[in-house]
Amino acid sequence: MKATLTQLVAAAALTLGALPGALAATITISCGSNAADLEWCGKYAEEWGKKAGHTVKMYTPPASTTDNLALLRQQFAAKSADIDVLMIDVVWPGVIKDHLVDLKKYSKGAEAKHFPAIVANNTVDGKLLGMPFFTDAGLLFYRKDLLEKYGAKVPETWDELAAAAKKVIDGERKAGVADFQGFVFQAKAYEGLTCDALEWVASFGGGEIIDKAGNITINNPNAAKALDTAATWIGTIAPGGVLNYGEEDARGVFQNGKALFMRNWPYAWSLAQAPDSPIKGKVGVAALPAGPGGKKSATLGGWQLAVNKYSKNIDAAADLVMHMTSADIQKKRAIGGSYNPTIVDLYKDAEIVKANQFMGDLLPVFTGAVARPATVTGLKYPEVSRAFWDATHEVLSKKSNGADALKKLEGKLKQVKRTGW
Ligand code: GLC
Repeated sequence: MKATLTQLVAAAALTLGALPGALAATITISCGSNAADLEWCGKYAEEWGKKAGHTVKMYTPPASTTDNLALLRQQFAAKSADIDVLMIDVVWPGVIKDHLVDLKKYSKGAEAKHFPAIVANNTVDGKLLGMPFFTDAGLLFYRKDLLEKYGAKVPETWDELAAAAKKVIDGERKAGVADFQGFVFQAKAYEGLTCDALEWVASFGGGEIIDKAGNITINNPNAAKALDTAATWIGTIAPGGVLNYGEEDARGVFQNGKALFMRNWPYAWSLAQAPDSPIKGKVGVAALPAGPGGKKSATLGGWQLAVNKYSKNIDAAADLVMHMTSADIQKKRAIGGSYNPTIVDLYKDAEIVKANQFMGDLLPVFTGAVARPATVTGLKYPEVSRAFWDATHEVLSKKSNGADALKKLEGKLKQVKRTGW
């Protein structure tokens, strides 16, 4: 019997398909820039690649989330297919919504196991634009050994933090550690400063910059007081250089044993506890302090995995997203890299809590974290945040004071809002 041409082609396709790697794709994933990100993402992405028969390539984005977003927006404008899987910040879905794949078809309801607020954050116009990967909240890292040595306690208020910092700086510098610092944090002019400053403002009862209804609330005396208070730290308990610090700069100083307190995200825990860390075993983690009359506040951060709409391999990319955000991988990343899971049940996992006691102790900090006004301002969030961090940076560098800077900021935000949020 003679085979038709169609039959022959079909048979050839089948044979080809059976060959190992015949349908293999190269999937490029962007999932953070520091050593821990590369290790704890790369390992599991490559594992998936081997199983699925695809090659995985790691793309290292810029360390600052602000630079990362700027670069991505250029790539989207060019409809670039270079990166298939993107790690996106919790404040980005409304900004880059037009360039991401709706993952509902791939998730098949798996998002129901994750924190509902994060899923809601990632859902824009009914589309699930990112699967939650890990969540973040600002934390206070402190040197247990030094607090003990100087008879100071973990600070409940910013005033207590400043007083303890002063005492320990004086003692350590006298003892010969000339460059010892009291408090390091993120005060470079970028998104990280928005996060730190929102914590100060919220903890002084100064609100959330813009409320959930879209009203600009930042020009108020409590917010001004918060920024003025933070300005007093620069050059006293914090080094002047903090005005140019991102997360990794602050961690560098703290992990070298040169600071008493550090404000940072959970990832810093596993690195501080690493075998080669000079401060291994000497670190404690607490909620950030409260301002006068306010309450302890942490900014909500966190990252999602999303698929680039211009990817040439959307199905494979989405499969990798579902693998990386699964309970199994979130658990491994939590134990190894102290990335906070977004799957609610994992907070009851004994192995996770054993590796990261703060995840159990500080659960309310994570569930009660203050969101930046990204959902309400949508596409305009980057402008709003930039205006806020610029105003804050001016106060911290003593070019302005809280009241003047916030009045000016209010005017600027009104302009941005002129055409609506
Ligand atoms: C962390 C947070 C992210 C935030 C960034 C600021 O990566 O998870 O939400 O925007 O820090 O630097």
